[in-house]
Amino acid sequence: MEIKEITNQNCKYLIQTPPGRDLPATLSPATALGVRAFHRQLPGYKPTPLVRLERLVRAWGFNDIFVKDEAPRFGLKAFKVLGGSYAVARLVCQKLGRPLSEVPYAQLVSDDVRKRIGQITLTTATDGNHGRGVAWAAERLGQKAVVYMPKGSSPSRVTAIRSHGAKVEVTDLNYDDAVRLACRMAEENGWYVVQDTAWEGYTEVPLWIMQGYLTMCSETVDQLRAEDAYPTHIFVQAGVGTLAGAVVGYLAQVFQEPRPKFIIIEPNNAACIFASAAAGDGRPHTVTGDLDTIMVGLACGEPNPLSWEILRDIPSAYVSCDNCVAANGMRILANSVDGDASVEAGESGAVGIGLMDLLANHTDFETLKDDLKIGPDSTLLCFNTEGATDPVNYQEIIWHGKYPSID
Ligand SMILES: Cc1ncc(COP(=O)(O)O)c(C=O)c1O
Repeated sequence: MEIKEITNQNCKYLIQTPPGRDLPATLSPATALGVRAFHRQLPGYKPTPLVRLERLVRAWGFNDIFVKDEAPRFGLKAFKVLGGSYAVARLVCQKLGRPLSEVPYAQLVSDDVRKRIGQITLTTATDGNHGRGVAWAAERLGQKAVVYMPKGSSPSRVTAIRSHGAKVEVTDLNYDDAVRLACRMAEENGWYVVQDTAWEGYTEVPLWIMQGYLTMCSETVDQLRAEDAYPTHIFVQAGVGTLAGAVVGYLAQVFQEPRPKFIIIEPNNAACIFASAAAGDGRPHTVTGDLDTIMVGLACGEPNPLSWEILRDIPSAYVSCDNCVAANGMRILANSVDGDASVEAGESGAVGIGLMDLLANHTDFETLKDDLKIGPDSTLLCFNTEGATDPVNYQEIIWHGKYPSID
């Protein structure tokens, strides 16, 4: 695969004619129904909005733009809790020896269940959002959570996790090494690892987490149908790729004829899916170092092997972006065109709309736009996966213009 550099905005991309593959039943519409039946029982469950940017799309010259806005999800500012809550519930049911479909939520959180399985400790490593989801689920189930965070984690994200009663340790490690630390601590203390990525011998929990994200996807399908819309291009950002694997693996089964083009987006310093696609040997590849980016939710160097085969064979493009693409996306969503809804988007949430802006308005992105056949008939979908999870950085970007465009 040829790597095309877009020097102007410090981005690069790879394009492919997707070879295609059979998609797993574990991410099927039937699975999504079961997952959503669980989430529907959680107090505060409400589908998050699918925002149609009708004025913006007129300015940009496409057919439609939709943003699935996860900022309001359970009041936790990110989609991640969908995965953590579903995985923790599956884990508890496994200990009870009963299928989740037969254990109503009220029973799951009952003292009786806690007495039967005892007090367990859940542990995980996180940049913030996943850990908050696990801590929130542990709090609801009356269990304990210990959360490890990479160096430089924002104090507001630490506080948010502690607010659910979890013990939090900010380490001196990057995300991937913090995951290894959580595993070591779990082994030494008899804790349960609830990690949002897989590795050899550890696939059950991450599959549950991936399935948990299907609630976001199936809500989106219902909402698109209610608007009588059919997506031609679906943009999804990747850290380890668990989210992108769920989105691509499920939506490619729902929208088959014609299949939309999927575009995977990552930050320049942590583009492990891009690096794996670029290597061209079919295997996942790791990127190392500090993984420094403002898109901290995407600052992961090791692809999730469960997702990788989907992300290898279904997407049409892989785009690696500069920080300014995410920052511009945040500013665009916060300052809506007259009549459109404003959307509070954090750094990892806004990169999809930031890339659409470049495709619409930047001559250097014409070749990518042509390669993807994006034009006036295109209906574009992206996912705002988080709100202002770091309010200090949010204000610096929106108010003070931090991380401006490069030209
Ligand atoms: C806000 C946000 N968006 C996207 C992602 C990417 O998810 P994944 O690591 O599954 O690719 C994350 C991961 O933490 C996140 O926090």
